[in-house]
Amino acid sequence: MNQPAKKIIFSGMRPTGALHLGNYVGALRNWVRLQDAYDCYFCIVNWHALSSEYHDARAIRGFEFEVAVDWLSAGLDPERAVLFLQADVKEHAELHLILSMITPLPWVERIPTFKEQLVQLAEKDLNTYGFLGYPVLQAADIALYRADAVPVGEDQAAHIELAREIIRRFNRYYGDVFPEPRTLLTEVPRLAGTDGRKMSKSYGNAIELKDSAETVRAKIMPMVTDTRRKRRSDPGEPNDCPVFTLHKAFVPKDKQAEIAVGCRTAGIGCRDCKAVLLEHMVLDLQPIWEKRARFEQNPGLIRDILEAGSARARARALETMVQVRAALGF
Ligand code: TRP
Ligand code: SF4
Repeated sequence: MNQPAKKIIFSGMRPTGALHLGNYVGALRNWVRLQDAYDCYFCIVNWHALSSEYHDARAIRGFEFEVAVDWLSAGLDPERAVLFLQADVKEHAELHLILSMITPLPWVERIPTFKEQLVQLAEKDLNTYGFLGYPVLQAADIALYRADAVPVGEDQAAHIELAREIIRRFNRYYGDVFPEPRTLLTEVPRLAGTDGRKMSKSYGNAIELKDSAETVRAKIMPMVTDTRRKRRSDPGEPNDCPVFTLHKAFVPKDKQAEIAVGCRTAGIGCRDCKAVLLEHMVLDLQPIWEKRARFEQNPGLIRDILEAGSARARARALETMVQVRAALGF
């Protein structure tokens, strides 16, 4: 008997450096779980990286490899999911061009991340045509695979909403080619970094997925906790503690509840609380560390996996573009 076709998922990550636990908990760990229920396309979006890293384009190549190793170590499986590089499928560029023609300027100008990043990354000069079009390229990524759903963190929600609007407009002008993609939000609180601010590569406060157990310990033990707990006997509030954001991501719920009570009653000290966290982080991360060595030492294998992924991605992209050109009458 024919099985019903699985729904299609697309998501991407920019190759701008090694992935950190925020990327893992906010996206990657969720993608790993989705691999069985959906046909997944996971794309290393090197053209998107170029929009902010154009002054050092060559560095992107090294980061592509790092991201691929992070993905595979974390459990993305090339037998089940299609893992590939964006620039290996030129149709992303063709569809981006077409979608750019029907995207009203105010739609992209009003995207909050656009204005924020212009200011925050002022040293990079992001005042370019390509950077403004970043979310249009993202819409093209999604539409190219006729994706039904897009698993992302909350920070990307506005981009997926825009993609949906662009797709609707395309379908209205030219006929129903694309499904409207749903956002599959990863429901995880933002992780704090080692300095208590949001974990981010650009703040230099990240715990990386490839950090060893010793490095993770060395980063967590000195972290500031709820400032009310000056002494061991002072009660604290876990929801005001940056370390507890990591508990929420790695420690089972019942244990979290127990710790929260301990914190509020000064029944547990911060050192012991961090030790519990570390124990659970190691349980989660150990298999990833073990798999990593095999991939890291085998660039040929990574290249083969990405090439095979590109071929599968291209096949679907070509089908879509036949429909797109027919819809436009080109
Ligand atoms: N903009 C996304 C990010 O920075 C990456 C991305 C590119 C993406 N194309 C996508 C995510 C398509 C989801 C779907 O994280
Ligand atoms: Fe944070 Fe744990 Fe210390 Fe409470 S006991 S302040 S949750 S580290």
